[in-house]
Amino acid sequence: MSASGGQVYDRWFLLGEKRNELLDLWEVQQYGQDSFGDPDYVSIYGLKPHEWYARGVRIPGRTAVECTRDQLANLIGRDIAAAARAASATSPTVVDLFAGSGNTLHWIKTHTGAHQAIGFELDDTVFSLAHANLSIMDLGIDLRHDSYLRGLPMLTNVSEDDLLIVFVAPPWGRALSERAGLDLRRTGPFPIL
Ligand SMILES: C[S@@+](CC[C@H](N)C(=O)[O-])C[C@H]1O[C@@H](n2cnc3c(N)ncnc32)[C@H](O)[C@@H]1O
Repeated sequence: MSASGGQVYDRWFLLGEKRNELLDLWEVQQYGQDSFGDPDYVSIYGLKPHEWYARGVRIPGRTAVECTRDQLANLIGRDIAAAARAASATSPTVVDLFAGSGNTLHWIKTHTGAHQAIGFELDDTVFSLAHANLSIMDLGIDLRHDSYLRGLPMLTNVSEDDLLIVFVAPPWGRALSERAGLDLRRTGPFPIL
């Protein structure tokens, strides 16, 4: 029998039983394989799972599902950088209101050359692990353990000349369905709007 004991590693298993649990490497790969046919699906910080795991990066089940993986975050970063080049401001500041792993922030910072990258993360488990991971990876990201609602007004170190890039991607939860599309009123674990 496989290590998973027949358990399918889909988003609902990871968001439920495994939500706040640290995943072993094989579990990250099993999720990628079972859900997307690719054991390297959860590639983040520019590394495949076996590479980031070897560096000491650890994620809970929730983050495996919710993180913006490299392939997508890289494209998002490129698009934002193309739009930012059209602005006259010199070096942008980038803020992610729902930072999670901090991976989207990393790619936006990389592509735009932002001089500061600030993320807000409310959840205790997600924050403590992401904070440790970002320190290991030394990505120059300022992750704050707070709701964006409280944190945003405290952002005093953004100059008026800065181009401010704000990335908004709340946890979809049950808001995203294959049949009905996206309904932001159903974001979870609680409605955020
Ligand atoms: C979809 S994930 C974000 C993924 C992220 N962009 C990445 O690259 O990994 C959403 C995150 O927002 C956090 N969150 C939810 N409500 C929040 C709030 N009011 N303020 C800050 N973070 C919040 C959740 O704990 C979760 O980790």
